[in-house]
Amino acid sequence: MATLYKVARLGHPVIRGTNTLVTPEEIASAEFQKNIDALIATMREYDGVGIAAPQVRWAKQLFAVEVLPSNPRYPQQAGVPLSVYLNPQWVRKDGETIDDWEGCLSVPDLRGKVPRFLRVELKALDRHGKPVKFTAEGFHARVLQHEMDHLEGKVYLDRMAGMSTLSFNQEFERYGR
Ligand code: NI
Repeated sequence: MATLYKVARLGHPVIRGTNTLVTPEEIASAEFQKNIDALIATMREYDGVGIAAPQVRWAKQLFAVEVLPSNPRYPQQAGVPLSVYLNPQWVRKDGETIDDWEGCLSVPDLRGKVPRFLRVELKALDRHGKPVKFTAEGFHARVLQHEMDHLEGKVYLDRMAGMSTLSFNQEFERYGR
């Protein structure tokens, strides 16, 4: 069984810090690959749909995403297969934005409505250093924008148009939407 990390919460300096690029030497190391496995295991343990390295106090430009159809935090959303992206960069973000609910493992128990671009194009390296480039839409595009923000020290609260939709999960279940 893979190691689990403790997730850093808002207020820990690493959440607002800067993150360095991953090097080819790191990618080739067994320790780096083990850390990626631990990052994925942590995302799954906390029912996350994405997790960025700084959230586990690892100040690197990388994140993982995976939306399982059974995810209890986002049961309405379409699935996204497990992917790990290193040194990601935007190629394109389309002008149109849509509002939808987001939470964050580093801001536990809360969610709020966040405007995000509907379509994005990203380029990155996969966990073995192979270049990848792809487009994503809807909730997948939203998760990518959320995780990309983490690499720049931003959280979804910074992207909300206002705080009026900010809700505890329990109240959201009862009164939300
Ligand atoms: Ni987050």
